[in-house]
Amino acid sequence: MSPRVVVVSGGGTGIGRATAQRFAHSGEQTVLLGRRLDRLTAAAQHISDTVEGALAPAVSAGDLSRVQDVERIVADLESRFGGIDVVVHAAGGNVEFADDPHRGETVPAASALQTIARRWNDNLASNVLSAVLLSEAVTGILADNARIVLLSSIAAYRGSGTGSYAAAKAALHPYAFDLAARLGHRGATVNVVAPGYVSGTEFFHGKLTEARENVLIGQTLVSRAGSPEDVAETVHWLSSPAAAHISAQIIQVNGGALYGR
Ligand SMILES: NC(=O)c1ccc[n+]([C@@H]2O[C@H](COP(=O)([O-])OP(=O)(O)OC[C@H]3O[C@@H](n4cnc5c(N)ncnc54)[C@H](OP(=O)(O)O)[C@@H]3O)[C@@H](O)[C@H]2O)c1
Repeated sequence: MSPRVVVVSGGGTGIGRATAQRFAHSGEQTVLLGRRLDRLTAAAQHISDTVEGALAPAVSAGDLSRVQDVERIVADLESRFGGIDVVVHAAGGNVEFADDPHRGETVPAASALQTIARRWNDNLASNVLSAVLLSEAVTGILADNARIVLLSSIAAYRGSGTGSYAAAKAALHPYAFDLAARLGHRGATVNVVAPGYVSGTEFFHGKLTEARENVLIGQTLVSRAGSPEDVAETVHWLSSPAAAHISAQIIQVNGGALYGR
């Protein structure tokens, strides 16, 4: 059997990179997507260096919340591979951690309401549009029995402080259901993985204090942070033939933190 083509958005770092690495271990052809080409090529090199016999990951750079970039990337995927078997949507994050509150504003500085509007729009673009545009663009070149996995968050259940990131992640849940209903007749499954706190990624942009990290770890029942590999294993299994009858589900990977201590 020829290797499956596995597209991983956000594949240059963190959970996406670990997920691509997991698929590379099982001999699949991975394709890494993200905005920063240097991160993508470094991740591809890391996978080639660390996974014996791995097929060299392909990379394609672009902003997945922009229609033109998605159209270009998917046209490129089609010409290189023909069809796609698995799509993992790890691109995203909470823009508030990366945020300069006055970005793009000239004097006078943004009002509080302007900042709120921008952060909500940016979180919806980063987490929802990126997944929706890529999913919609690839439907025409999906192989039968395809697998789509979207990355949500425990924040969809517990909030994220201001609500904008949490609401964006929560929006993926009904979208996954609708997409699963549309694609199911071709044997495709669409599921959501919702991690709790995962360390070792760029998610917090260096803004996670030790005190806050201890709180997040303390909420788990297993007394540790999740790792990118914890999430990657679940995504990999959901994408396997063994999970063929699991669709439109939200699988939580959080060490029990939703209910907490
Ligand atoms: N770490 C956690 O505790 C945690 C918990 C729950 C859920 N999650 C979710 O898990 C996913 C992976 O996060 P992570 O922790 O691995 O953080 P990360 O290292 O920051 O990974 C996010 C990736 O998404 C890419 N990305 C962001 N916006 C993009 C866009 N518009 N177009 C294309 N690529 C984009 C980034 O690359 P570029 O900047 O180069 O584009 C980056 O590689 C995210 O959806 C995040 O919300 C994380």
